[in-house]
Amino acid sequence: EKGGHPHFMIKEIMEQPEVLANAMRGRILDDGSIHLGGIKPLLPRIAKASRIIICACGTSLHAGMVAEYLIESMCRVPVEVEYASEFRYRTPIIKEDDVVIAISQSGETADTLAAVKLAKEAGALCLGFVNVVGSSIARQTDAGVYLHVGPEIGVASTKAFTGQVVVLSMFALALAAERGTLSKEELASRGLALRDSTKLIAGALANADKAYEMAKSFRFAHSFLYLGRGFNYPVALEGALKLKEISYIHAEGYAAAEMKHGPIALIDAFMPVVIMAPKTDPTYDKIKANMEEVAARDGCLIVVTDEGNDEFDSRAEHVLKVPESPEWIAPLVYSIPLQLLSYYIAAFRKCPIDQPRNLAKSVTVE
Ligand code: M6R
Repeated sequence: EKGGHPHFMIKEIMEQPEVLANAMRGRILDDGSIHLGGIKPLLPRIAKASRIIICACGTSLHAGMVAEYLIESMCRVPVEVEYASEFRYRTPIIKEDDVVIAISQSGETADTLAAVKLAKEAGALCLGFVNVVGSSIARQTDAGVYLHVGPEIGVASTKAFTGQVVVLSMFALALAAERGTLSKEELASRGLALRDSTKLIAGALANADKAYEMAKSFRFAHSFLYLGRGFNYPVALEGALKLKEISYIHAEGYAAAEMKHGPIALIDAFMPVVIMAPKTDPTYDKIKANMEEVAARDGCLIVVTDEGNDEFDSRAEHVLKVPESPEWIAPLVYSIPLQLLSYYIAAFRKCPIDQPRNLAKSVTVE
């Protein structure tokens, strides 16, 4: 059942190209148009929302943060993303023309479910982006989109994260089409680029050996810092969460520019700093400046960048390369080497990867 792999987690990492293709099948047509049956009749209402509020926990929250970048840039609607546990207890202001989106792999997370109830009581339209069919969140939301990535067994979420990002990307494109915020040509080419992202993900997985080698060097590290900007800021948070969960190594994710406001004090030769540097990111030069800040303090730099970009080969301790992708697709591609790095580090440390201590697959208590 693990498909010949030692753990479910690595099986689930490796099967991402295939399951994400399933998640998009019939939803992105050959002309690049998006068809999400569950929400189609509601699109006119969603398009009129003055605000979209996304509630989730853990990894699902990180997918929600990617969605904030996707929806605001493509659809020009304000998006707020909040931990469901904070949202529910701060007497939030929810208006009837708000759309609340709950994101959850299990569909059973207690805090996310409570946020759904609150949103419904306030009269907002509530959508669920959930993996488990028939789960509580799927049942209690007004409508939604299933991830369709198959059962996720490993406690550390991997394919559900990329599945959420894929579904949220399709949602953003469908909403942009409804709102007329992207041209027809742009919508078609983005739809097809999203569908083709599975090839880029497969390309990133093909470089797994490099992540394995790196993991060997870093298995005794005490702490990691993950830095990203823009679309890759949530990827940095997710990379750090993954490492903490399964390898028990302390890790923090940060927006790269925030480093100088505190965490820079931590930098020394012993703390690996993983920094995402896609050339297609409009802040690429700023990312390079952030790298210099680390290098100038003898930090141990691990750069994740695009294949064909040799700029860091002699300047960083390690360079992980992934296929080049458009800025908005980068989270799908850049999260792959981070998943692999966490997995291999935990494997070298002989951690119980599929069932890390103190963690449960679905958190049904608040
Ligand atoms: O089932 P959900 O997506 O609602 O779960 C939310 C979090 O509990 C979950 O993402 C958790 O952070 C994972 N263990 C992350 O790998």
